[in-house]
Amino acid sequence: MSSGIADRPIALIGFMGCGKSAVGRRLARKLGYAFLDTDHMVEAAAGMSIADLFAQQGEETFREMEAQALAEALASGRCVISTGGGITTIDSNRKLLLDRAAVVLLECEPEEILRRVKPLEKRPMLAGHPDPLERIRQLLAEREPFYRDYHFSVDTTASWPGRTADRIVTWYKNYRMQQQASAGGCSG
Ligand code: S3P
Repeated sequence: MSSGIADRPIALIGFMGCGKSAVGRRLARKLGYAFLDTDHMVEAAAGMSIADLFAQQGEETFREMEAQALAEALASGRCVISTGGGITTIDSNRKLLLDRAAVVLLECEPEEILRRVKPLEKRPMLAGHPDPLERIRQLLAEREPFYRDYHFSVDTTASWPGRTADRIVTWYKNYRMQQQASAGGCSG
């Protein structure tokens, strides 16, 4: 683990339906940090929903706006950032996250993801596919290499968002304490 990550914003990454927004909101509340969501930032900048943005301007425009939102969020001081599930498929986003955030990966089993992401019309990466569970499995397999860079990970399949947030708080506070102890040890 790199040094100094406990002073950075916490960024939640992972596939759709793994709980990034629900966990992120609770995590921010527990830590007294601001909460930012790159999907909401893109929707605000575009003046339309993600589904409409994909339909009207295409995925490439969405990805450009998402990268811009990520850069802005990472420059916002202490905060919790919920990211879109495809954000780490872009190399420069992955690098930025690892360099500037404490990166927490949320994972979940495909069957539970499908249960959580309905209605599918709001999910441009899944909508219109005849077998959504198969599509989720296919995307998870394709994206597996893009979810390998993180500092801490939690499986949310059988966990409520509040419980997942508690686990992240415990990890984060322990990490901070270790960091402070080693900084004190060096100066003393
Ligand atoms: C996407 C995930 C979505 C949203 C967009 C694309 C993806 O975010 O950014 O629909 O490529 O996996 P959530 O993971 O918050 O649903």
